[in-house]
Amino acid sequence: MINKVQRLIKKSTNVVIFTGAGMSRESGIRTFRGEEGLWKQYKPEQLSSITGLQAQPELVWDWYKKRLITGEGVIPHRGYDALTHLQKLKGSLPVITQNVDGLHRLSGQTDVLELHGSMRTASCLVKCGFSTELTTDLLGSMPPHCPWCGNILRPDIVLFGEPLPAEVISRSYELADNCDLMLVIGTSVQVWPAAGIPFAALDNGATVIEINPAGTELPCNENVISVRRKAGEILPLLVGLKE
Ligand code: APR
Repeated sequence: MINKVQRLIKKSTNVVIFTGAGMSRESGIRTFRGEEGLWKQYKPEQLSSITGLQAQPELVWDWYKKRLITGEGVIPHRGYDALTHLQKLKGSLPVITQNVDGLHRLSGQTDVLELHGSMRTASCLVKCGFSTELTTDLLGSMPPHCPWCGNILRPDIVLFGEPLPAEVISRSYELADNCDLMLVIGTSVQVWPAAGIPFAALDNGATVIEINPAGTELPCNENVISVRRKAGEILPLLVGLKE
């Protein structure tokens, strides 16, 4: 199986990467679903929605502060290095991610499409135009307020109930419609419209290599190769990244 996947990656000319929270698990960032998932402990509609932020800004910002602190100083694991290595080998390797942790960019990958935004910045909830880098020192007083209009700030991630950035989602589907191989790494493929991207690749006749220790919503057919391994363990092997 490994040799077959290595050969596929090597010979494919239009490879696209699609990742979810599991891609960052070996860097110490929790996933949302599964045994130790964040949604087992917290309610997404309360903490990751516009209505939740408006109703309980302190609670929501306290949660994001915890995630920000967890994310500070996080080092992208060898699986990220493997994708950076593959991007150099291929010359072009678009990376579509559902993650907001910024680890793809931090590990040197370019052409990264962040479907759900990123925790790098925060902006004014009522869109007065203020925006700033999101660091823990911005969160001295909670919840953080806009210095221009006094309303609360929001992290620049896509909250439940909000549309995904139009240009990012349309380019992501365009990439899926035209790739010959998609590596789907660390995602339960459950949250639409992002979850439709691997299916769009399959619909165009591409092969999908799924890297995930657990099963997902992807179909079991001849175009899906499931590698039931952890991203950090197997990606360096699959792309030939030497120790
Ligand atoms: N390597 C690869 N996959 C892993 C690893 C690992 N080391 N550890 C866990 N996984 C897999 C899990 O088996 C699971 O299928 O990662 C997947 C994570 O799934 P989710 O927690 O559902 O995360 P994701 O698919 O990214 O969720 C999509 O849901 O809550 C929203 O906005 C949030 O972007 C997120 C979206």
